[in-house]
Amino acid sequence: MGVRRELRKVGKLFGRSESTATAIPNERLGYDGEADALLAIPRVRSRTMVAHASLLSLWAQIRHCELKGLPGAYVECGVWKGGVGGLMALANMAYGADRRPIHLFDIFDDICEPDPAVDGERALTEVEQFAGRSRASLSGKMQPLSGVYDHIGGPGDAEAVQKFVAEELGYGTDFTRIHKGWFEDTVPIVTIGPIAILRLDGDWYASTKLCLDHLYDAVVPGGFVIVDDYGTYEGCRKAVDEFLAMQPEQPFLNYVTADVRYWIKPAGASLA
Ligand SMILES: C[S@@+](CC[C@H](N)C(=O)[O-])C[C@H]1O[C@@H](n2cnc3c(N)ncnc32)[C@H](O)[C@@H]1O
Repeated sequence: MGVRRELRKVGKLFGRSESTATAIPNERLGYDGEADALLAIPRVRSRTMVAHASLLSLWAQIRHCELKGLPGAYVECGVWKGGVGGLMALANMAYGADRRPIHLFDIFDDICEPDPAVDGERALTEVEQFAGRSRASLSGKMQPLSGVYDHIGGPGDAEAVQKFVAEELGYGTDFTRIHKGWFEDTVPIVTIGPIAILRLDGDWYASTKLCLDHLYDAVVPGGFVIVDDYGTYEGCRKAVDEFLAMQPEQPFLNYVTADVRYWIKPAGASLA
């Protein structure tokens, strides 16, 4: 068992929010393929706010898709500086004979406003703290919360993410697909085809709901749906719970960290 120590809990908007051993860099958690992951994660670490334990879990999921031949693209909605996209690329190259499209959706600017009616107290407190905006001024508008990512190096940049994944990590421009814009404007119109892994990291209710509404049907049976903020923000949890309640089968939500859950698409669910 690795060394355990409590870390101060920080806001999700400020960075990784896990407060326990899941936040210790380089800790071994016993996943298959973990030695490879521990070599890959330092190459993306500065470009992701996702916790170490969640990166290990994602690596194991991609390894599974590659070794078992699960078809489909890898998709992340909420990319920031592209560390997760980079890890997807590295894991594919480690275990897969063929490249597959990696679709990365983001505004590549500060995140939009939460909706005070659904996104919950934690979202409002963090926005007040990190963007200096009063909760009374928020209404869920598609406008960047100026300065909210200043404490962690500012927002992501589409060209820099493209260069990082396609060139620096060597994934190639043919398979690195960057979709810049609000999800509301990009997700409904981009053609992706089957999806093996759908990773949602857009924090708020409306963003999570939109991505599930438009992309879930394309996830292949046996594919993974990962929701980064299920345990973090009330609105994200509500969007997932409402969406799954409408599905014919109710999957078990697997715990990764205090923030992250994932489920495996049931074989009986629809495929677009
Ligand atoms: C928590 S960060 C993503 C963290 C990232 N997955 C990582 O590895 O560090 C959320 C990102 O989603 C973007 N985002 C949130 N809602 C969005 C929306 N509706 N449309 C486009 N981008 C959005 C934000 O601008 C931000 O870059």
